[in-house]
Amino acid sequence: MQEGIMLSTRRQPPGSPEGRADDDSKTRKPTFIIGGFASKLFGFLLEHPIAKLVVTSLLLLLLLASVLAYTWLRPAVCFSSYGSFARTALVSSGADGLTSDFGSLGVPYISKGRSKEGKTVEWTTKELRKGLEEFVPIYESRPIKNNLHGMGFDHSFGLWFMARWLKPDLMIESGAFKGHSTWVLRQAMPDTPIISLSPRHPEKYLKKGPAYVDGNCTYFAGKDFVDFGSVKWGSVLQKHGVSDFSRVLVFFDDHQNELKRLKQALKVGFHHLIFEDNYDTGTGDHYSLRQICDQSYIRGGGHSCFRDSDEARIRIKRKTFWEKAVDVSELCGNGEAWWGVRGEMRDDFNLSNKAISYAEHFQNSRFVESVLDIYWDLPPVADPSLTHQTRYDPARAPDPIIEVGRFGLFRKLGLSRLEASVFNGYTQMVYVQISALVS
Ligand SMILES: C[S@@+](CC[C@H](N)C(=O)[O-])C[C@H]1O[C@@H](n2cnc3c(N)ncnc32)[C@H](O)[C@@H]1O
Repeated sequence: MQEGIMLSTRRQPPGSPEGRADDDSKTRKPTFIIGGFASKLFGFLLEHPIAKLVVTSLLLLLLLASVLAYTWLRPAVCFSSYGSFARTALVSSGADGLTSDFGSLGVPYISKGRSKEGKTVEWTTKELRKGLEEFVPIYESRPIKNNLHGMGFDHSFGLWFMARWLKPDLMIESGAFKGHSTWVLRQAMPDTPIISLSPRHPEKYLKKGPAYVDGNCTYFAGKDFVDFGSVKWGSVLQKHGVSDFSRVLVFFDDHQNELKRLKQALKVGFHHLIFEDNYDTGTGDHYSLRQICDQSYIRGGGHSCFRDSDEARIRIKRKTFWEKAVDVSELCGNGEAWWGVRGEMRDDFNLSNKAISYAEHFQNSRFVESVLDIYWDLPPVADPSLTHQTRYDPARAPDPIIEVGRFGLFRKLGLSRLEASVFNGYTQMVYVQISALVS
């Protein structure tokens, strides 16, 4: 799993960690040289009470005007309530780079006000927290304790929570590996049938160690493997007694181009999709919805490959804190192509990739936007100061479910019992609800 950062070219607002370094001038003491005329004038003003009153009032008016000008004229696009909160926390704790700067660094977020109906998910942070308390003991009982190359805690929770909330009639999983995600789906919905597609059958892993094979799952795996795009879904679903395709949940963890998967799912008529690895721009082995949403016209999107830019400097700094952060030289390919991964649309674990033009990348986002009803990035479960994760850059993720400083809550929900390594796999899992355009 990979993760990186994606920063806008905008200047940092005052007070942000990145903005402080070059703001030396603000701390320097001003030097006043008062000539003879000026000192006489000051003497006159100080001696006459009416003049003193007029000068004081003028100064107050000037102060008020500057405050109002600052409030009205600052660029709203660079500020979010979370961003200012995070920056305050950052400045007061002095923990440069540890806190998210979501908003000011720019996180492309295609759904905000852009989904067709302006809809959003039904669940709230309160429900996510309640879910966490319930899920921690379930997770502790997982059969595959070390799921290296598979899902960690954040995404396991997200998948379990959403499957349980959506209550589908059938669950489809593409990419099973040893079966951890199949087990998670089963915990969410004990009696719902599952269809699992994976080139290697999870039972193969049982010979070497822990794996999970489900009793109520139809496996298209091993010699029976069929790619999601080639399955005759009409007849398969009919055999399962499912006629309403909108009651099916499809989970992709197969590292395939997500635009390709989205189009295939749309053609069949599926509505509810979850993508496990929604890789950030410049990272990962397949073209993701996050990458597609990263557009200059979308708030938080678009990049600069200029090596002497604010973005380049911020990236270098964040790379020192977060393993998956990328600098401008890693972000940009030939011809300053930053979209996708260095201007490529990757597919199939990067076994296949294709250079795409910016115009094509732009058209892809317009298409995705046209079929999206809901786009929801799963937030990380807790702030890195609580989980001690060091891989993903929190500036590229939404607000965590448990914010900085809430150690009491983190412990109460049982999260402090888990090993830190289980929090290292977050890659912006995304839930989308789609439907074809009605013409
Ligand atoms: C990252 S692993 C899945 C991890 C698993 N979901 C978990 O939580 O542990 C990716 C899986 O996708 C499988 N895969 C590769 N190509 C695929 C395809 N075209 N369709 C479905 N699965 C595929 C791989 O064999 C591998 O098992």
